[in-house]
Amino acid sequence: MDTIGFYLSQLSMSAPLQAFRGSFLHCVADPAEAGDASAQYFADGVLLVENGLVVSLEEAGQTSIPADCAVQDFTGKLLVPGFVDTHIHYPQVDVIASHGTQLLDWLETYTFPTEQKFDQEDTASSTAHFFLDELMRNGTTTALVFATVYKQSVDAFFTAAKERNLRMLCGKVMMDRNAPSALCDTPESSYTESQELIAQWHNQDRLGYAVTPRFAPTSSDEQLRMAGKLLSEHPDVHLHTHLSENIDECNWVASLFPNQQDYLSVYEHFGLVRKRSVFAHGIHLSHSEWSRLGKAQASVAHCPTSNLFIGSGLFDLPTARKAGVKVGLGTDIGGGDSFSLLRTINEAYKIQQLQGVTLDPLHAFYMATLGGAVALDLDDRIGNFAPGKEADFVALDTASTPLLKRRTSVAKDWQSMLFALMMLGDDRCVYDTFILGESAKRSLG
Ligand code: GUN
Ligand code: ZN
Repeated sequence: MDTIGFYLSQLSMSAPLQAFRGSFLHCVADPAEAGDASAQYFADGVLLVENGLVVSLEEAGQTSIPADCAVQDFTGKLLVPGFVDTHIHYPQVDVIASHGTQLLDWLETYTFPTEQKFDQEDTASSTAHFFLDELMRNGTTTALVFATVYKQSVDAFFTAAKERNLRMLCGKVMMDRNAPSALCDTPESSYTESQELIAQWHNQDRLGYAVTPRFAPTSSDEQLRMAGKLLSEHPDVHLHTHLSENIDECNWVASLFPNQQDYLSVYEHFGLVRKRSVFAHGIHLSHSEWSRLGKAQASVAHCPTSNLFIGSGLFDLPTARKAGVKVGLGTDIGGGDSFSLLRTINEAYKIQQLQGVTLDPLHAFYMATLGGAVALDLDDRIGNFAPGKEADFVALDTASTPLLKRRTSVAKDWQSMLFALMMLGDDRCVYDTFILGESAKRSLG
């Protein structure tokens, strides 16, 4: 072993073991497949963490904690894996709660003007920091994130995420038509800049790159071909785009691509539909499109708060599941109006209610944690407390408001407590967020 290798092995041998005590809940499988066995609940559990990775999670009585290991006591709190947001736009923080439009108007009126400000480095950097603070305050530890067309907006995001040791995915928007000229790149520049960003950021620490054509209407055939070329040259990067969100958008795609049989086939034609492809929304898909998404092992980000706020429609979760499509939850800030995955679950529940479907609390919790990790193909790293996984987790205060305190105090079991938390909870019940076992609270104020 060389000197540096020896020094590093000594360092890791001496890294202190951390112990966290409290109630724990996590999924170890998909509830659709494993039923009740998909969840593990520990009323009084101990989580051991070393070097930022999970060592074990057991009942308190079964864990032997070394005498020199101080236990961080979260008795009375519910500790869960960090939430995973599978679709969000960091430059749209100031677009949230913009009044009175549906998708295509909303983009023209609010979103495109705001995104033009991200050619300024300080705007990009300060917004990236605000955005990541907000994710932490809401217990979200991993997200798949749209930047803007400007390359430096991706640099600003990755720089801020790297400083915080976060597992984040992001990419430069590719957009060469049907948008203001200041926001348009070209097929060549989008290819070259994406290549440069992949070389600089992909797999740096916990960061990953996502090739990000905005949606079919804002890319020429040539640009979509370039996106496919990037994927074939870098098979382990993600693909992140929008699909079938709004009826006018779908009709527009049909008129722009008359030779394609449907919206999904536009992306298929250019080699964009595969594992690690994440499509936001998927509201107006045919059975054939659902089945092709499933066969391709692609994922869909269900964005309930956005679908209600922009009035896009009601997501068909049972059909998605039947087709074997991996579904995660997305806040879609700024189309969505909350950073909170708890609020997002609340709206997801109501969207199913309106269609006569009952969303099981465990299934909802799965989509916000392990299911989101599966949708991003990151479940070997994050999503639960399995040994070896990265120790990103959240301590939830189930009594953080008078109403929540009252309602959770009469919950008869952890399942009904979880449901009350998901219907009544928001950022106020995030007591602390941990990244690789380190508290983020100290830096959040
Ligand atoms: N489709 C194309 N761009 C966008 C966007 O920024 N937000 C949403 N919700 N849909 C889109
Ligand atoms: Zn979006």
